[in-house]
Amino acid sequence: MKFPSFDLERIQSIYENSVEINLTESGIEPLSLKELMNPKELEELLNLPLGYGYTQGTPLLRQRISNLYEGADENNVLVTSGSSEAIFLSAVLTVSKGDRVVMMTPNYLSFNGVAEALGAEVDYVPLLKKEKWEWDLDCLDEAVSDKTKVISVCNPNNPTGSVLNLEQMLKIVEIAGRVGAYLLVDEVYIGAELGSNLTKSFLGMYEKTIVTSGLSKSYAHPGLRIGWIISGKRFVEEAWAIKDYTTIASSSLSQHIATKVLEPETITKLRSRTKVLLNKNLETFSKWILPYSNHLSFLKPEAGGFAFVEYDMDINSTDLVHDLRKNEGVFIVPGDSFGIDKYFRIGLGHESIGFSKGLDLLSEGLTRVFPEKFT
Ligand SMILES: Cc1ncc(COP(=O)(O)O)c(C=O)c1O
Repeated sequence: MKFPSFDLERIQSIYENSVEINLTESGIEPLSLKELMNPKELEELLNLPLGYGYTQGTPLLRQRISNLYEGADENNVLVTSGSSEAIFLSAVLTVSKGDRVVMMTPNYLSFNGVAEALGAEVDYVPLLKKEKWEWDLDCLDEAVSDKTKVISVCNPNNPTGSVLNLEQMLKIVEIAGRVGAYLLVDEVYIGAELGSNLTKSFLGMYEKTIVTSGLSKSYAHPGLRIGWIISGKRFVEEAWAIKDYTTIASSSLSQHIATKVLEPETITKLRSRTKVLLNKNLETFSKWILPYSNHLSFLKPEAGGFAFVEYDMDINSTDLVHDLRKNEGVFIVPGDSFGIDKYFRIGLGHESIGFSKGLDLLSEGLTRVFPEKFT
């Protein structure tokens, strides 16, 4: 079994903690425990026994997760170690050697890597920038055949920030239903909308839907490593049986804290903090990019915490990123890492001072590398 390298995670793991400004963080500025919990709750935490606990997730945590979805209960939920484990378990359960799977691109390239390692072939179907990053559903229809086991969707999409509308969701469900494929939907960015409408979940729209999500992005707690699968009860039980081999249980300490994160009042507070931060940084970013608009362009994201920027300079995106990192100490992620060159991703979820400083460094770097275009 051979895993292709997961370029996005590799490049981030190597550089994001050592650069001066990481301008590409894909989540929202995390909170400390002191900001999240009151003194009584912190005291409770100190007395928490550090056992394995419930390996599928505590009943209360699973119930709070299920409350985020219509028509689900705790039996539909498996708590995982990050949504990455949720994606991994879902892939292992649905994909076998010789299968085909279809994936939206550009995308967070996790599921495809596991599917390849399992011996499947991946058909990539593009989101189109000229169509406001809408998914090419005619192309999806053509790509899906009787051999297609899984259609993998990321909604809201990382890195474009686009969100499917109901009509598109229904069409995707129809295409999956035509061949009985699983619909594996990464919804980790639900809750990070810049406007007022919460993105609709695919859960409940189709029997073979598997939703993966977690607390790392919209809910600002990646360090907890809490994610989940929410799907039919049988699928969840099968995924739990595989989790016995991967991590047995997610951290009991993290599950306790996650239960607090998912209290209704905390969810409301976190969602509105996320919205304020994203909109403020989007405004700063939109002003920053204006003088460069002959060479850089992006479509305002609907959700998700990033701006995906297209450029017209004659340089590969990974080369550009390393040049800026080495010389200006600012780190952005190359389009290459999402399956598309001539783009880079800026994270909008940073606290604002670091964000502005990062943009200044980016200006310095672009002016240094392309003086004729950026001075
Ligand atoms: C779209 C998407 N899905 C899943 C993940 C995995 O995140 P985690 O394992 O922290 O939940 C990421 C991380 O960047 C992501 O961007």
